[in-house]
This record gives sequence, structure tokens and C-alpha cells, in this order.
Amino acid sequence: EKSMLWGGRFTGGVDPLMMKYNASIFYDRAFYAQDIRGSIAYARANQKTGILTADEFAEIERGLKAVYKEWQDEAFEIKPEIDEDIHTANERRLGEIIGKQIAGKLHTGRSRNDQVATDMRMWLRDELLRIDGYLSDFLKVTVAIAERDIDHVMPGYTHLQRAQPVRFSHWLLSHGLAFAADLQRLRETFKRVNRCPLGCGALAGNPFGIDRDAMAKELGFDDLIYNSMSGVADRDFVVETMQWGSTLMQHVSRWAEDLIIYSTAEFDFVKLADAYSTGSSLMPQKKNPDSLELLRGKSGRAFGHMAGLMMSVKGIPSTYNKDLQESVEPMLDHVKTVSDSIQIATGVLSTLKIQPEKMKAALTPDMLATDIADYLVRKGVPFRETHHISGQVVALAEQTGTPMDQLSYEQLKGVDARFEKDIVDSFDYQKSVEMRSAKGGTSKAAVLEQIQVVKKMLV
Ligand code: ARG
Repeated sequence: EKSMLWGGRFTGGVDPLMMKYNASIFYDRAFYAQDIRGSIAYARANQKTGILTADEFAEIERGLKAVYKEWQDEAFEIKPEIDEDIHTANERRLGEIIGKQIAGKLHTGRSRNDQVATDMRMWLRDELLRIDGYLSDFLKVTVAIAERDIDHVMPGYTHLQRAQPVRFSHWLLSHGLAFAADLQRLRETFKRVNRCPLGCGALAGNPFGIDRDAMAKELGFDDLIYNSMSGVADRDFVVETMQWGSTLMQHVSRWAEDLIIYSTAEFDFVKLADAYSTGSSLMPQKKNPDSLELLRGKSGRAFGHMAGLMMSVKGIPSTYNKDLQESVEPMLDHVKTVSDSIQIATGVLSTLKIQPEKMKAALTPDMLATDIADYLVRKGVPFRETHHISGQVVALAEQTGTPMDQLSYEQLKGVDARFEKDIVDSFDYQKSVEMRSAKGGTSKAAVLEQIQVVKKMLV
């Protein structure tokens, strides 16, 4: 006879489809290690309350470690007809190993409601620590390349139209600073994830005077959730993580989009390594930037999980309702997507071939039109006027089919008498970037400062 953990009050069987519909074991098994660690801490705390004797605690700990080893060795046998979730599966197996007499005492005062919230927070906390490392690695690669390639100048774009020359490193750091802010946000979010709901019980708290602080400390939490009803109801830690991850993936996606454009034959500023490209099954010449397209595409899925969970949660009445189980799969998939994506992005960037001569060749004299206007500003002409004059120079170049920097001194003088011989110095891309030396600009000193800013955000 199969017996559900909560079978006492039930007489009829459950619809087989309902059993599957209700079960979470095939995904929440991801928490087996956290679930067992949490149970050991819970049992230890219940030895202090007198619920368990020292011998009983020792037996439970021995049994739980044996269950852990089965999972580790991939020897744990899930019984789908009774193992509804990871919590029931572990307790069922514990009873088989040490006997139901003692195993049956483990869950005293505890509910799967505080148990699952504890497992999820521990799992998520560990993943976020790993992701912190991956994101830091990505930023270190960004900074290293920005330092190495600081002298390369390329077209900067607005509306995807050539706008003004910028350093390649300046472009790279424009993304780098967004990712560095993501690292700060991650560390903020972590503090709210790493708080312990164990000991909240089903909703009202623990009636045996359990030492929640001791359990939280043993399990590596920074603090407690101080209201038992909110402890079991709260999935804000998942929502916040996915909001964080969605912001990060939005940055990943825009970064990838730039690189997809820059890697086309039309731009050719960068070449993607074979390791992050794939071929076409039909066209032999193709090398496609699949890694970057997947980074862009998977961002949509990451946002979807975030929005989906917010919709699932928003109308739930107080404390635990089974809707909350719907927070698990989005969290698992979102976190995997984010974690994998950062590592792929790091691989793409660290193997990317930069083509500075192609960047240089894409610079056109009309991109210096602002510098021509600025030249006259320095002679005391109001900018609104110089903007107009420089526009006339652009028009003259277009009408005569002459690149702007090839116009004769006489032609320029013809547009405005205030142009002098030193105007030739303004037709210089290096000079153009160096002029932008105010903080945050694209001059070498200003870009070097940005590198220092990102480095500081990394520690
Ligand atoms: N698998 C459940 C979840 O993920 C565990 C909590 C079940 N609690 C309950 N009262 N049915 O939410």
C-alpha cells in the first residue's frame, strides 16, 4: 500500500494525473544537498529543545548522511508514486535506513513550507556566489582588453549611423560599466536572499522554543526572516534575483547585438573564434555567430520567467499556497541561463579577434564635422552658428564629391572667412578622441580612468 506523507485524513486515491501535476521531485531534487543539510541543522536544534535525545540525533544525522551519499552516487531511487517532492523523498528514505520510530521525529514543528523556502534560499545563495565569480571574471577580461586595445579608434554610432570617433576601449567599457553595476546589484540582492526561514513552521512559528539563530548560523545564513508568516509566503528573493538577472541579460543582449553587427563582413571590426561559431548545413562558406544570437535570444526567456513568477505570485492570499511551488522551475532555469550566459560571454570576449585596421578604415572625414564646428567655437563663434557653417562644409564636400578633409583651404575659406590654416589639424581622428578629455570621455586619460573605476567596483 502506497502511503503519502500526509495520508492520515484521506480515504480515496488521488487522480494519477493529479499526482504528476502536483509532484515537484523531478526538478526540486536539485535541492537534495540543501534539504539534507537543513534537516541535520533542524535535528541538532531539536536535540537542544529535548525533542530528540543525543542518540536519536546521532542516528538521524547518520541516516541523512547515508541518503546524501546515495544522491551523490546517483544511487537514490525515486519512487514516483510516493515521492512527491525532495522533502518527502529524503524523509521516506531516512525512515527506510534508520527506522520510522526515530525518523518520524525529525519533522516535529517543521513544515515543508519553511523547509522548501530554506532549501531554495540556500541553493540560490550558493548559485549567486558562483555567478559573482563568473561575472567578476567577465569584467576582468573586459578590463584587460580595454587596457590592451586602448589605442584603437573606431566609429561610434548613434541610430547605427556613424557619429563620432571613439576608442574601441571606450565602447567596451560602456558595456563594462553596466555589468559592473550588475555586480553591485547582485551583492545587494544576495543579502536579502541569504536569510533563514527555518523554524517558521507551517505559518505561525515553532512551539518547542527552537533556536533559530543557531540553525541560521549553522546553515551559513547572514540573518533570519523575522516573521513566520512571511517566512513561508515570501518568494521576493526569487523575484528580486530574476529582476536582477533580467537586467543583466538585457545588458548581455545589447552587448551581443553590437558584436553581431561588428562581426558582419560589412563592418568586420571583430572576428568570432570558431569555438563560439557554427556553420551552415547548406552554405559551405557560412560562419554564424550563434553564441551571440543565443545570448540575445535567451535573454527573452530569462525575462519571461521573471514576469511569469510575478504574475503567479501577485494574487496569492497570505502565507503558503501551492502556487508558490511554481517559483521553483523558473528560478532553476533562469539561474542556469544567467550563469551559462555569463560564462559564454566571457569565452566569446576572451577569444575575440579585434581588427583595428578595419575599424580605422571605417572612419570617415564627415565624422569630424563636430570637430570643425568646435574649431570655430574656439575662435569665439557661437556654437549654433558653427554648427550651421560645418553643415555647409559637409554639403560642399557632398556636392563636389570631395572627402571633407580633401577640401582646399580656399574652399573652406569660401564657406567662412574665419577658417585659418590650422584647420587642417582638426581633420585628425586621434586628435578628435583626445579632445574629449573631460571625465567619462573617449580620450586616453579618460578611458584609463574608467578602467580604474571598473577595477574598484570589482573588489
Ligand atoms: N514542493 C512544495 C513546494 O515547492 C513543498 C511545500 C509543500 N507544502 C505544502 N503545504 N503542501 O512548494
